[in-house]
Amino acid sequence: MPSSRYLARDAVRLVVEKLGMNHRESLSLLELGPGTGIFTEHILPNLKKGDHFDVVELNSYFYNILHRKFRFNGEVRLHHSDFLKFHPDRAYDFVISSLPYEQMPSRVTLKMWRHKLSLCKPGAHIIYYKYVNFNHFRSRFEKQLVREFCSDEKIVFLNMPPARLFTLTIDDPLRCMALFEQDAPVKNGVRVNGF
Ligand SMILES: C[S@@+](CC[C@H](N)C(=O)[O-])C[C@H]1O[C@@H](n2cnc3c(N)ncnc32)[C@H](O)[C@@H]1O
Repeated sequence: MPSSRYLARDAVRLVVEKLGMNHRESLSLLELGPGTGIFTEHILPNLKKGDHFDVVELNSYFYNILHRKFRFNGEVRLHHSDFLKFHPDRAYDFVISSLPYEQMPSRVTLKMWRHKLSLCKPGAHIIYYKYVNFNHFRSRFEKQLVREFCSDEKIVFLNMPPARLFTLTIDDPLRCMALFEQDAPVKNGVRVNGF
């Protein structure tokens, strides 16, 4: 189900605000699981020369929609890929994610989080949402991450289904990774890191 324009507007609010600042340095943005590209559309008009915008979509149907919509736009780089196989040579100021974590095995969700954090610059913002019918957190790690690093949280009722939107501010990505290691499964009394 595509996100509503209300969710899109709220999800990109901080991004648009930062992109609109005068005399700023160039910014790097990563969008994950854009689907039909509604967030992408809101971000694109605000980019300036020197900004970098990567968009990663796994599904061929959605990728083709994105390609049709944005193929003449030189400012967005579309990647038809699984995010876990996407290894850019840069880190990002913003990671905007629509990845459906709740539909993935928790082992995969944790891998996604680890990969996302590894791509964050110090001070980066991660923006993501979950539908309110999935109110719980999938892992201790996600719960703790939100508790410690959430700088904004909002419920967007005008979306089907309503969504809880989180903005995390990752001042120290390495410290977040350390939280992650605490959540690694224990096998035979030994913590299995790097799973
Ligand atoms: C909830 S939908 C996105 C909704 C989007 N905001 C919209 O309005 O269309 C989740 C998207 O994540 C994509 N996705 C799922 N797993 C992915 C992965 N491993 N890598 C990249 N994209 C993925 C799906 O194909 C889908 O387009």
